Amino acid sequence: MAVVGHRTTLEEYITSEWREKGLSDGLGAVIMAIADGSRLVQEQVQQAALADVLGATGDINAGGDIVQRLDTASSDIFVEALSQSGHVAAIGCEEIERPVIVEGNVADGYIVLMDPLDGSSNIDVAVSIGSIFGIWQKRPGENVNDDSLLRVGKEQVAAAYVVYGSSTVLVLATENNVCGFTLDPEVGSFALTHPGIKIPAECAYYSTNEGNNKVLDGPTQKAITLLRDKYSQRYVGSLVADFHRNLLKGGIFAYPADQNRKDGRLRLMYEANPLGFVAEQAGGAASTGYQRILDIVPEQLHQRAPLILGNKDVVEATVSVINGS
Ligand code: AHG
Ligand code: MN
Ligand code: MN
Repeated sequence: MAVVGHRTTLEEYITSEWREKGLSDGLGAVIMAIADGSRLVQEQVQQAALADVLGATGDINAGGDIVQRLDTASSDIFVEALSQSGHVAAIGCEEIERPVIVEGNVADGYIVLMDPLDGSSNIDVAVSIGSIFGIWQKRPGENVNDDSLLRVGKEQVAAAYVVYGSSTVLVLATENNVCGFTLDPEVGSFALTHPGIKIPAECAYYSTNEGNNKVLDGPTQKAITLLRDKYSQRYVGSLVADFHRNLLKGGIFAYPADQNRKDGRLRLMYEANPLGFVAEQAGGAASTGYQRILDIVPEQLHQRAPLILGNKDVVEATVSVINGS
């Protein structure tokens, strides 16, 4: 393996640069729990059929989606890692209908909303998949209950995602600061490889499921046509992989409302909110087509939201065509 100079590890980053930014050790412990869990998930992703984690469990989750074995395995791994961190008060998870309220008195009490395995349709065909996390801090003195998880996106204190692709990359966003860390599987630690991520000024790609065009309303069809005329199409079918490419290369992702899905397909609390937070901290934008994602006051843990996500100018132009403004 090529020997490069010492790279800052995630642990070093959190205990040095993170503190300089006034971010708490407790939040750092939550991030380390996510990193530890993602290492275990990555091992299962790499082994796949060898670890007998391919295929469906036969269950349906709260949102009506078929549950894959790796969905359940990754959910269990992250619930365990986060619960053991000593700083998480509650967890909301795509694969678990009700909130997990962590017992014991956790002083600073972070609330984590997660999609433990994003891109489930790609698990069995060895295409990039990921995990997505939104992190809020419980309100001072709050006795955490189910409603504590229904927080507006702009109150997130951090967000993170992991993409299990040709490499495993953890992207961490706090206010005005987005960094990427790449897993060194031989060492088992994440090294800082993408400091200070900002979405490029030029949009290069558009990502949408063109098969849905026939069920889009007229203005939305027009908005997609304008994207098709200007940009190259890239669509993996794993939101986190499509977003990661667009974040690093410039691009827009769109899963808009359609005739069959008035709220689109993606989930507000653990897909749109976290990635909307990452996008905004990197200079991008996230909208439903009618309002800023991070302004939505949630009503249900698993509610869906249409999602237009990426370069700020292109999101704004697309949104204005969709809503006729
Ligand atoms: P999940 O596997 O967590 O349910 O997420 C899948 C989502 C998202 O990752 C992706 O962008 C979208 O489903 C793809 O939907 P279509 O197959 O309808 O395009
Ligand atoms: Mn998902
Ligand atoms: Mn999922």
